[in-house]
Amino acid sequence: MPGYRDLFDASIADPETFWAQAAQAVTWTRAPQTILDDSRPPFYRWFPDGELNTCANALDRHVDAGRGDQAALIYDSPLTDGKRTFTYRQLRDETARFAGVLRGLGVGKGDRVVIYLPMVPEAVIAMLASARLGAVHSVVFGGFAAHELAARIDDARPAAIVTASCGIEPTRIVDYKSIVDAALDLADHDTPACVVLQREQAPCELVAGRDVAWTDAMADAQPVDPVPVAATDPLYVLYTSGTTGKPKGIVRDNGGYAVALLWTMRHLYDVAPGEVFWTASDVGWVVGHSYIVYGPLLAGATTLLYEGKPVGTPDAGAYWRVVAEHGVKALFSAPTAIRAIKKDDPDGTHLDRHDLSGLRYLFQAGERLDPATYHWAVEKLGIPVVDHWWQTETGWAIAGAPMGVEAMPLKAGSATVPMPGFDVHVLRPDGTDCAPGEEGSICVKLPLPPGTLPTLWGDDERFVASYLSAFPGYYLSGDGGHFDEDGYLFVMGRTDDVINVAGHRLSTGAIEAVLATHPAVAECAVIGAADDLKGQVPRGFVVLKSGASADGLVGELVSAVRNTIGAVAALKRVDVVAALPKTRSGKILRKTMRGIADGRDEPVPSTIEDIGVLEALTPILRS
Ligand code: COA
Ligand code: AMP
Repeated sequence: MPGYRDLFDASIADPETFWAQAAQAVTWTRAPQTILDDSRPPFYRWFPDGELNTCANALDRHVDAGRGDQAALIYDSPLTDGKRTFTYRQLRDETARFAGVLRGLGVGKGDRVVIYLPMVPEAVIAMLASARLGAVHSVVFGGFAAHELAARIDDARPAAIVTASCGIEPTRIVDYKSIVDAALDLADHDTPACVVLQREQAPCELVAGRDVAWTDAMADAQPVDPVPVAATDPLYVLYTSGTTGKPKGIVRDNGGYAVALLWTMRHLYDVAPGEVFWTASDVGWVVGHSYIVYGPLLAGATTLLYEGKPVGTPDAGAYWRVVAEHGVKALFSAPTAIRAIKKDDPDGTHLDRHDLSGLRYLFQAGERLDPATYHWAVEKLGIPVVDHWWQTETGWAIAGAPMGVEAMPLKAGSATVPMPGFDVHVLRPDGTDCAPGEEGSICVKLPLPPGTLPTLWGDDERFVASYLSAFPGYYLSGDGGHFDEDGYLFVMGRTDDVINVAGHRLSTGAIEAVLATHPAVAECAVIGAADDLKGQVPRGFVVLKSGASADGLVGELVSAVRNTIGAVAALKRVDVVAALPKTRSGKILRKTMRGIADGRDEPVPSTIEDIGVLEALTPILRS
């Protein structure tokens, strides 16, 4: 196989030949004759005349190839003491039947299905069943509250919702069904049908005429064959935080995604059919979509669905137990999970209790892998620890170390090198390229490779405004960083108001919108402050309306954020302050506040309106 440099150069010099070759790994119902439609820049479409079904590629074709008895999905749930393995045949049959359930509820090609489920096999089945029908799923992470779910329902306008009676967190049962009921009440869109998985830990009431229990519906359903769709038809919409309170509906197509994910399973993750790949994320995030569900199954590998935490379920050896018990070859998690393990078990004593000889790689993403955590993991595991950088928008890694291609030297703090197809540039504000070592905006020259977002759901204009306008001809990632002299990419953090809390992407704008609705609050700012465990945590600063009382205010604001956005927002600290530092044109100096909170020597912008306000705030920011 050619080395990284040859592959990368080929992908940039002649993307169509590169991806046409990669597309041969997919089973098409109509093979694409055109590889890239670039007739309408800045909109690009991959494999525009190809036709396929992604679910058939993930399940049926492995059964047809004689591997129906191989494990497709292993469910391991320390939170319920549950374990279950589905072979490819079993997963195909369950999925085909659930597709029959959805069809019976009126779901057809192009219709949306909102999925709000915990980490149970039914989540994977519901996603694949939607794909089987040519419908478009939109999975909402369980840590989001009713208001956020309602916003997504109103944008996606689903024909059906699939949910469960409850989710299980270590310290409490989360009443999913009540959240769905509340969201449906809040939403303007009228969702006609709701399939509910009753879990024994907390069964729920069903609403007559709208709700149907999963098992009852399955008992009556007929299996459905895969429906071919255009490669450019949407497979899913996944909402992610932007800089405003309104989430962005990232669209993923069918054909480009299948091609790209298949390419990555072999070349980036070095995983072959039959090998066990474990992504310890949640199906509600892009990492879960790509590497719990689609990537490993498209590749004919065995995927692992883990309903538990890295620590406390029952201890900091949980990951190592799962790796040893199920023969995991590659583990993919967020650095925050490794930091949580390191905090509880700094000497790695749990590692010695399990046979980890089969574990070849630890992949990390969701936030920057900080050097201290990198060194700890390398020392304790003695295997490559591979940071790779990506976003909901791109669906797969923009930069990483392609372990199936060559064992590149890794550097602490770096996401290594751009993946084939991603022509990464670090740009100065005037659009020229930064020199090595010089920080700038990380951008990708268009066209983006297959699998990346073709647009935002129902909003081409916002797509162009958000990503393609700052530097014409380039995709703006929203991350800042630099290349070093060897061409290694260092991704240092967001340049906008998106924050990353325990690997969860959140918008400070959305949190501010909640704080601002409190009757006592005149104005507010939320910043992401550095945190040893979670990477970042939100911190709120509020200025009171004149005459308003601060009594009990902080508790009310914390609850309001938890109830409106969800537990995952994890806002714990709010300070009541006299004033917020602003520029003369009235813009709050969030970046300056963040720098001071993180202990940096932050330059004071020359446009500041009143330096005294910043000076008064500095000790609070530093405390
Ligand atoms: N449903 C309902 N609530 C959820 C939830 C879900 N699926 N996931 C998390 N929550 C809740 C938690 O119970 C917690 O609530 P609490 O405030 O009552 O304790 C809150 O949301 C914050 O959760 P989190 O920040 O995840 O903290 P945690 O203590 O539960 O777990 C880690 C810490 C490190 C284990 C966890 O954050 C983790 O594994 N993160 C990785 C994230 C990830 O995979 N990102 C994708 C990129 S790879
Ligand atoms: P999400 O869309 O939820 O996957 O979050 C994407 C954002 O997470 C990126 O824009 C980065 O800010 C951050 N991120 C993800 N992976 C990495 C990484 N390996 N290094 C640095 N930042 C990362």
